[in-house]
Amino acid sequence: MGETKHLIGLLLGTEEDWPRAFQGLMQRLNPRIDLQGATHRFDTERITIEPFDLRARPRYSLVIDRLAHWYYVPREWLKKVSLMNDVYLMNNPFTFQSMEKHSAYCAMVRLGLKIPETWMIPTKQPPENPRFPYTASKYNRPFTLENVANQIGYPLYMKPFDGGAWVGVTRIRNDQELHRRYDESGERLMHLQESVEDFDVFARSLSIGAETMVMSYDPAEPLHNRYEVRHDFLSPELGEEIVTISRLVNAFFRWEFNSCEIICKDGEAYPIDYANACPDMSLISLHYYFPWAIKALAKWAVFCASTGRAMRLDQDVREFFAVGDREDLAYEDKIAEYRKLSERYFSVGEYEEFCDTHLSHIDEVMVDFVRSPEFDDMLVETVVTTFPAHEQAKFVSHYRGLLGAWADDQA
Ligand SMILES: Nc1ncnc2c1ncn2[C@@H]1O[C@H](COP(=O)(O)OP(=O)(O)O)[C@@H](O)[C@H]1O
Ligand SMILES: [Mg+2]
Repeated sequence: MGETKHLIGLLLGTEEDWPRAFQGLMQRLNPRIDLQGATHRFDTERITIEPFDLRARPRYSLVIDRLAHWYYVPREWLKKVSLMNDVYLMNNPFTFQSMEKHSAYCAMVRLGLKIPETWMIPTKQPPENPRFPYTASKYNRPFTLENVANQIGYPLYMKPFDGGAWVGVTRIRNDQELHRRYDESGERLMHLQESVEDFDVFARSLSIGAETMVMSYDPAEPLHNRYEVRHDFLSPELGEEIVTISRLVNAFFRWEFNSCEIICKDGEAYPIDYANACPDMSLISLHYYFPWAIKALAKWAVFCASTGRAMRLDQDVREFFAVGDREDLAYEDKIAEYRKLSERYFSVGEYEEFCDTHLSHIDEVMVDFVRSPEFDDMLVETVVTTFPAHEQAKFVSHYRGLLGAWADDQA
């Protein structure tokens, strides 16, 4: 049987915790996948940034990218290796670059999801272009900001159309605040969005390939305390609906590593933020759920590389719009159709079967790893680099407790 070596590349910035855990798990797991006459073996490597020949052949089968959303040299390298060399990328740099929060809202409104009422308003500061004054005097309609706000109702949120990490997001209660925030927004293009008030649960899901974890999230808490370790906080139906919405977004945009924020109120799911294609993976915030995330990343990478799954560079939006545009289908029926479409995109059945056949020992390996000194070193270093000295001891035992609880729960 021939041997195929797959190199998994990590394109990283400042993160150290999950890459160490991922590389540690891959080393312990040391996958050996016999499939279709070949034995697939794996190695991982951190990618360095350097000049590249457009015709150079990359050594990687798959790349997990955490850098290209702000650093353009690696972004262009990613485009080259996907366009020319069929390297599998998480995530797709093409749709990631062109589709920000605004596009994600538009697409999901068309698909019938319950996106709160959202308007876009012209920037407070016009673009610095000598053609602007003439263009604006001829074509820009004067508007009254309060009138837009009245269509939505207070309180409302003002947030950047391409936002992330809560930058520039404000909750606005009246006309005075509206004007102040609008003046402050300067050149940033903003949305005004209806606020979902008095909600029951704020759910945040993390999707990695064909797996989705839905967690209870409190955005008002500090980072280490946002995800709650809580099971059964949603009805089974609502839980499944959130899984479907998360996968639908990802299948639609060809993102395979993304988080999705959905506010739940009176049994209804209102998605508000789901274009986060470099989702938070840190041990500090994921704590109890961290081992799940590391495992899911390893499983998806091994599955994609071994089976030769081809990365989909282009979107097939019509397939989704054909469902979204149907007036005879109720919301629930559309959700059911989206579930089918997204499970097909992610080859969910095939993935599960692959994991059962080839990676059934991964749970055990992960539990051993979490209980190992190597993992503990990583945990301690992460705490030490995150918290001030007087809080470190407390947080080391806090995280040891949560990770230990995870390992015990797997028994
Ligand atoms: N429509 C809304 N209703 C209620 N809360 C909201 C709404 N939009 C945003 N928020 C609050 O503001 C926070 C940041 O907004 P979000 O859209 O998630 O922006 P970012 O992309 O910066 O995370 C959310 O986590 C939530 O707490
Ligand atoms: Mg958010």
